[in-house]
Amino acid sequence: MIIKPIKKLKGEITIPGDKSISHRSVMFGAISEGLTEISDFLEGADCLSTIDCFKKLGIEIEKTSDKILVHGKGLHGLKEPAETLYTGNSGTTTRLISGILSGQPFATRLTGDESIQKRPMRRVITPLSLMGADISSEKDNDCAPLLYKPAKLKGISYDSPVASAQVKSAILLAGLYAEGTTKVHEKVLSRNHTELMLKGFGADISSENNTAKINPGNKMYGQKISVPGDISSAAYFIAAGLITKDSEILIKNVGVNPTRDGILKVVLAMGANIEMQNQRIVSGEPVCDLLVKESSLHGTNVNGDIIPTLIDELPMIAVLAAFADGKTVISDAAELRVKESNRIDTVVYNLKKMGADITPTEDGFIINGGISLHPSNELDSFDDHRIAMSFAVGSMALDGDSQIRNGECVGISYPGFYNDITSLASN
Ligand code: S3P
Repeated sequence: MIIKPIKKLKGEITIPGDKSISHRSVMFGAISEGLTEISDFLEGADCLSTIDCFKKLGIEIEKTSDKILVHGKGLHGLKEPAETLYTGNSGTTTRLISGILSGQPFATRLTGDESIQKRPMRRVITPLSLMGADISSEKDNDCAPLLYKPAKLKGISYDSPVASAQVKSAILLAGLYAEGTTKVHEKVLSRNHTELMLKGFGADISSENNTAKINPGNKMYGQKISVPGDISSAAYFIAAGLITKDSEILIKNVGVNPTRDGILKVVLAMGANIEMQNQRIVSGEPVCDLLVKESSLHGTNVNGDIIPTLIDELPMIAVLAAFADGKTVISDAAELRVKESNRIDTVVYNLKKMGADITPTEDGFIINGGISLHPSNELDSFDDHRIAMSFAVGSMALDGDSQIRNGECVGISYPGFYNDITSLASN
């Protein structure tokens, strides 16, 4: 993928649907009774993997011109799949569906692409096994392929060692099939879409002091869901607007759930000129439009409780830090090592190719910003959509063409990314 420089960004952009909420709409719709109508569903490859898995589990899912229709069959309506489920590159599909498959009266085999087959699944296997689930890793390496066999589940009270919404959600979903109450406590609250949405579908679920609690027994019913724009996708436009000279863009329909909005706090701390407008609630989630203007940025520290609220945005924040004056230290983010790529290594590799001063640490990076960066023909997405988009944005703000190997992998979460960002360019 060749990335050309952009002189300035002007105009408006509407951000595509949230990936986390799109996945959950299909999954929760499938195990609810009746029709779930989803508008602004994200048609990225990951969410299409979720649709494909639930079709194989016997759920009819239709696509109309502007909606996805899920014909839910209730909690006990899934069918034994005739073949292995394939979750592609999607950690969210793999981990969340594990909670559902653990409670089924039939066996299922699941696998994914090369990256998924390396991602840690012990984090869901342990709590689900404590609930009584029978899950095994075929290669005995705690990774997919995974095999789920029928088992009787019981509720547990689990202190999660990682602030991971995927882990929390897998346990809560298994809780729908377990006897008794299931509780998940997190030291730092991870994104809470599962809690908000399961409640909306009718489940008996509540949250207090970072503990989510679910009781089985309630019937769940299909819902109409309008998926808010994904702040993780908006992050690339926020960054591009801030570092591209003379830019002024309005980013519309951005979900700003407080468990997801850490990027806004960080860029404000870096000196960003960014304004939240038209704040409203869409399908129970806070949404706004963001007016972003080119700004002169300075370094900051990013660590502690804010990390889970911006975990997917850290590659973009690292690139921003290289453009900002002074030092930025990102820590408490060792989770970056187990994402679609090892994002500490892949960010460092690419920023060094651009001439940045960056040092990896165990759980983050130290970046001395403000050094003049140059375009590079040797950038690599490492097949990770967020690495591709972060370095496309960084490259566009430089003088001269850059190249990213497999820049096309943006289709995992944002198929229209390159068209959308170049549509704002007025060179
Ligand atoms: C997600 C949770 C996060 C995030 C991922 C989507 C979700 O992962 O990185 O892109 O939808 O629950 P973890 O829960 O593993 O932190």
